[in-house]
Amino acid sequence: MSRALANKAASKRHPLPAELDPARLPSHLAVIMDGNGRWARQRGLPRVMGHREGVEALKLTLRLCSDWGISALTAYAFSTENWNRSGEEVGFLMTLFERVLAREIEALDREQVRIRFLGDLVSLPQGLQELIATATARTEANTGIHFNVCTNYGGRAELVRAARHLAARAARGELDPEAIDEVCFAGELHTAGERDPDLLIRTSGEQRLSNFLLWQLAYAELHITDVLWPDFNQQALLSALLDFQGRKRRFGGVDSTS
Ligand code: IPE
Ligand code: IPE
Ligand code: MG
Repeated sequence: MSRALANKAASKRHPLPAELDPARLPSHLAVIMDGNGRWARQRGLPRVMGHREGVEALKLTLRLCSDWGISALTAYAFSTENWNRSGEEVGFLMTLFERVLAREIEALDREQVRIRFLGDLVSLPQGLQELIATATARTEANTGIHFNVCTNYGGRAELVRAARHLAARAARGELDPEAIDEVCFAGELHTAGERDPDLLIRTSGEQRLSNFLLWQLAYAELHITDVLWPDFNQQALLSALLDFQGRKRRFGGVDSTS
């Protein structure tokens, strides 16, 4: 296929499935992209092939969210605990992040995606840090979907960092400890300025948060699917959104019908 044709095919919009109510979509979707290793093992492939395939699932998910009118997508790409994996796997993942970012930034920018990387970025390889800084600056003013990639992200580390920032401001006399409230605290998190996720999807069936967005997920609806991340597709996203639209969100209150 020629480059122009490929671009055209890639830019084809996905219409919102008729089953979905456009007025009741999550505004912010968070995803724990789990099961890449198992996907590869099932096929007799090395684990890292699952990560490579997982990139395609993420690209499709981002495009669908953007086309369907979801305002923000936050994806867990690498946790602070994932350094415990073999050097080979960690190295592969870092190189994959670099390659994919370098390859995709043009299209992301063209699609008006605003990309940010959340986490402790200074521990990432230098080349990746530079690509991240360039991509963030380049897409900063874009008006489309907010795409947050959690890289070397840990919920507890994020909370500790916020506490440290606030304590430092208080110690300098710039902040009255009594003035620290939930809004002020949330403003020190990596997600400052973003609404909390309405829906969390975790693939591969694990029923845990694995240190993801501990503060922000306080009232998110949870959708756990057995689908392995590389197999996550339009049907799987549709199922999650239909599940979400069937939920009654009460936020501690009571239903008017009960
Ligand atoms: C998720 O897939 C991707 C990352 C954590 C980077 P896994 O690599 O955790 O896959 P499983 O859970 O071993 O199948
Ligand atoms: C969570 O998956 C982290 C990412 C998806 C990046 P893990 O596979 O690391 O989580 P655990 O070890 O099963 O809790
Ligand atoms: Mg896993």
